[in-house]
Amino acid sequence: MTIQITPLHPLFVGEVSGVDLTRPLGPDDARAIEAGMDHYAVLVFRRQDITDEQQLAFARNFGEREDSRGGSVAKKEDARLTSGVNDVSNLGKDGKPLPKDDRTHLFNLGNCLWHSDSSFRPIPAKFSLLSARVVNPKGGNTEFADMRAAYDTLDDETRDEIADMICEHSLMTSRGALGFLDYSDEEKQMFKPVLQRLVRQHPVHGRKSLYLSSHAGSIQGMTVPEARVLLRDLNEHATQPQFVYVHKWSLHDLVMWDNRQTMHRVRRYDASQPRDMRRATVAGDAPTVQQQAAE
Ligand code: OGA
Ligand code: MN
Repeated sequence: MTIQITPLHPLFVGEVSGVDLTRPLGPDDARAIEAGMDHYAVLVFRRQDITDEQQLAFARNFGEREDSRGGSVAKKEDARLTSGVNDVSNLGKDGKPLPKDDRTHLFNLGNCLWHSDSSFRPIPAKFSLLSARVVNPKGGNTEFADMRAAYDTLDDETRDEIADMICEHSLMTSRGALGFLDYSDEEKQMFKPVLQRLVRQHPVHGRKSLYLSSHAGSIQGMTVPEARVLLRDLNEHATQPQFVYVHKWSLHDLVMWDNRQTMHRVRRYDASQPRDMRRATVAGDAPTVQQQAAE
């Protein structure tokens, strides 16, 4: 059976059929999916009952695995999963939902803010692949915004103004916006801000996108309040309903997105009930500040 992709939204997002992710992917299928990612930026695969190992093996077709260190306040010894996937569930080592006041739970609530994965790393992530192992009974949709369309629809004046802007991104900015402000010295060191271009260009098709994320807290050469007002305006523009796809999860869905061309967020859900989501993350290949100035 050959791979088919059906659009799920007027601007981006495709649903892929004709592929079984429990089995190794042939080179033609891997190429078709990567090309689909370049075009659609988000791909949905339904009814894929996979193990962590199969999820990681599928992700490996698109690049190296991103090292997850430095992305959380969870202690290594408290990890529920040791397979190499990122645990984005609300579960502790005992398999039960984390208590309401648990520090890791509070930190993870940052995923409810619009972001691009790992924009707080010097080399941010390329793709993320999220697999639904237990679906929460209430809420918990994941929303995606097309940042190419967001860029394309800016007025010329704004496009010129932001063309070469460089932002500082840190996990302390996104978490700080939720009032999570207490960090150990080691965490402060780990979450030091990194630089990212505000406009980036896709390496294959060359389309530009607005590279926003709730981790972004300042812009070089601007005062912080001035920068934050601009970033808020851009975020408001970029997340208008016409640029957004809402994914309602079914058990064993796998959704794969390109962090270079999209933002995403999870909506609130019933924290007293399990939501087991696991992410394989494909590393990016270069800092965005090394990209050519946008022409
Ligand atoms: C992620 C993330 C959203 C969700 O895995 O990067 O933001 O729906 N997850 O859990
Ligand atoms: Mn995320």
